[in-house]
Formats: sequence, structure tokens, C-alpha cells
Amino acid sequence: MVDTAQNALIRRLIRAGTSTDDEIDALLKDVGLAEVARVLIEEVLFRCPEPANTAPVHVALDVTHSGERYTVALRMVRDEPIAMVEDDSARVRSRVAFTAAGLVRRLFGPADTPRTGDFENTFVPTPDDPGQVSELLAEMNTVLRAAAQATATLMAGCTSRSPDLGELSIRYGSDKWASFHWYTAHYERHFAPYRDRQVRVLEIGIGGFDDDLGGSSLKMWKRYFPRGTVFGLDLYDKTALTEPRLTALVGDQNDPEYLTVMAREHGPFDLVIDDGSHMNEHVRTSFRTLFPYVRPGGLYVIEDLQTAYFPDFGGSTGGVAGPDTSLGLVKGLIDDLHHREHREPSVTRPTPTQSTVTGVHAYHNIVFVEKGTNGEDTLPGWMDADVWTALGAK
Ligand SMILES: C[S@@+](CC[C@H](N)C(=O)[O-])C[C@H]1O[C@@H](n2cnc3c(N)ncnc32)[C@H](O)[C@@H]1O
Repeated sequence: MVDTAQNALIRRLIRAGTSTDDEIDALLKDVGLAEVARVLIEEVLFRCPEPANTAPVHVALDVTHSGERYTVALRMVRDEPIAMVEDDSARVRSRVAFTAAGLVRRLFGPADTPRTGDFENTFVPTPDDPGQVSELLAEMNTVLRAAAQATATLMAGCTSRSPDLGELSIRYGSDKWASFHWYTAHYERHFAPYRDRQVRVLEIGIGGFDDDLGGSSLKMWKRYFPRGTVFGLDLYDKTALTEPRLTALVGDQNDPEYLTVMAREHGPFDLVIDDGSHMNEHVRTSFRTLFPYVRPGGLYVIEDLQTAYFPDFGGSTGGVAGPDTSLGLVKGLIDDLHHREHREPSVTRPTPTQSTVTGVHAYHNIVFVEKGTNGEDTLPGWMDADVWTALGAK
């Protein structure tokens, strides 16, 4: 569970990532190195890919500030979660040290090219006991190679650069790529501009229904948006997934009262993704209720639009998605986008979606709706076809 103080600290760290050294120093003075280092190390471990080394090895990570040092030792090996172990220095085969300010910038600063020059590293520290030298020599082939691989894994976690969504989808086991759906390429196209921003992301549908905890896509968003805060909403209790920068909420996407209270507390959101029940009525209720809580400049995404043709989900038969379906909603949004062009009758009081939908990008089974100010004017109604032609507007 993540308490309010931890959430406040992570928000300060995210802001500190792009601020001055003085501000990072002030934060460390307020909170103390140990507290800051614990949060940073948890974030590093979350961001690390799976270790590739087949021989187990211990790697230490030091976080330093003004002569103080906070250390964790990590046992790393392929197919096992990275485990924090006691810092038994004699067993550590590689040590990486960052200043706290340096690690804050690496994790929450702007994503730039991979860097060196802001950390120290020692492989196979010289043993205190000369008798250990022969033991180290015997290990050279296996353990030193493992230490190098494990250190590379650790360094891959010490960065605000995120892998692309196709790779993350595979890493976390989401079905948004190569599993009946090919969504991550569309997500990459539309979400890339938000990647380095302090986005608030809400996904309806955490996964796993009532028999599994799920959470694959929430982890994918958390890793993709290194400065983001991710919320997941599900009918079933998945609050065990809550951790720094990720909150699991319990609620029904077809309950507008619940959605309103939830959005007032946690919104506005930059990105909302509906991957919930895919029942046509539910999709429409969620959109109607939550689109007002999308920030201008944000996006509302609806997955699995195919259920607009599935009668079991409240969809239409006969190959034309009716007005009460999710695709009926999407078609209506295209009309809303063009409300300034409507004639007989023209629109005098635009609806909320007419005034705020500024783009509708539909692909096979998925749509991205852009929110903003839909204020571009039309040609005045008194201009008849002859005037248009005279102006060269054909
Ligand atoms: C397809 S899964 C989500 C998969 C997940 N987004 C991912 O990509 O890994 C759908 C989830 O929606 C949840 N769900 C079903 N009906 C819902 C409702 N009315 N309100 C909220 N969540 C619902 C289910 O419990 C299930 O966990």
C-alpha cells in the first residue's frame, strides 16, 4: 500500500527531476537520504528489465548525499525477481554509486541519450582477505560475466528513457500487442508526445476479471511514462496492485455517480483508456461521464469497438453499428466535430462534445478521441455557392 506521504514524496521527486540542484538538496534536507533513496531504489527495481545472467550474482547500489551513503545489495539472476539481500560486501561483485541528485535526474529528468559521467562503478572489489584472491580467480569466467550482465540490467533501470510499447507489452504480458490485437503501434503514434510529461492516466479495466490480479497494462503505462501517475479501475478488487505511481480503484464503469466522484478526486486525466467490459452501454456511459474530466490537449481511447457488431454485448446486427453502440458514439463524434458546418438547423448552442472534440482517429477496433477547443469557424451561411466559387473554394 502507498500512503499519502509516499505519494507526496514521489510527486516532489518527479518535479525535482527537472529543477535545480538547490531544490533537490532542499528536498533531501526535508525528508532525509534514507527515505528518498528507498523510493528511488523501488523505482529503479520497477524499471529494470529481467536479468539476463544465468549465474546468480550480487550487485550493490549506493545512493550518496553530503558524505552519507544508503546501500542496497541485489541478488540478480535470470527467471527470478531481483531480490534485496543483506549487504554482505564480500559477496558483491559489482557496485554502482550515484549521488541522490544524479539518480533523481536519471529517473525523473527529461529522457536524454544514455549517459556516463554521473556514476561510479567497481567490478570485483579487491578483497580484504588475500586468501579470497584464488576464489575470485576461479570465479572469473562465470561470475564476472554475470556481474557485467547484471550491472547492465541495473543501469537499464536507472533511466527515464522508456522502451517502446510493443516491447513493454511483451515484458508485462499485456494483450495489447500480438494477441488478437495490434494496438500498441497506434498507442505509440498517439501517446509518444506525452511520454516525458507528468501525465495522469486512467485505464478502465485492469485485467484478470475475478480470478487473477491482472495489472499488465497498468505496469506498461507506468514504465512508458516515467513521470506519470497511473490509475486503473475495475469491477473487482485489485487494490493489491497499488504501489508508487500506480493506484488500483474498485468501481463500475457503468455507474455515472461513482465515476464522477472518482474523477473529481483523481482527475482531471490527460489520457483515459476504456478497456473494460466492452458492453456498448457501458462504453457510452463511461465516455459521457469521463470525457469532461479529460484535460484539454488530452485523449480518450476506446478499445475493442468490434463489440458494436456483437449482439451479446448490446451491438447491432446487419453490418451497420446502430446509434446506441460504441461505434454509433464514434460516428456521432464525427458529426459533433463538424457542428459549425451543420445547416438546417445550424447549431446555436453547441453540446459539450461539440465544443471540445477536436479529432477522431479511428483504426481497426480502436479509436483515439482528441479533446480541446473545437472553435474553427465555417464559411458564413450567407455565402452561397456562387460566392464560394468566386472565392475559389470548390
Ligand atoms: C480486457 S480486461 C482488461 C485488460 C487490461 N486493460 C490489459 O490490457 O492488461 C477487462 C477488465 O475489465 C473489468 N470489467 C468488466 N466489467 C467492468 C465494469 N462494469 N466496470 C469496471 N471494470 C469492468 C474486468 O474485471 C476485467 O478485469
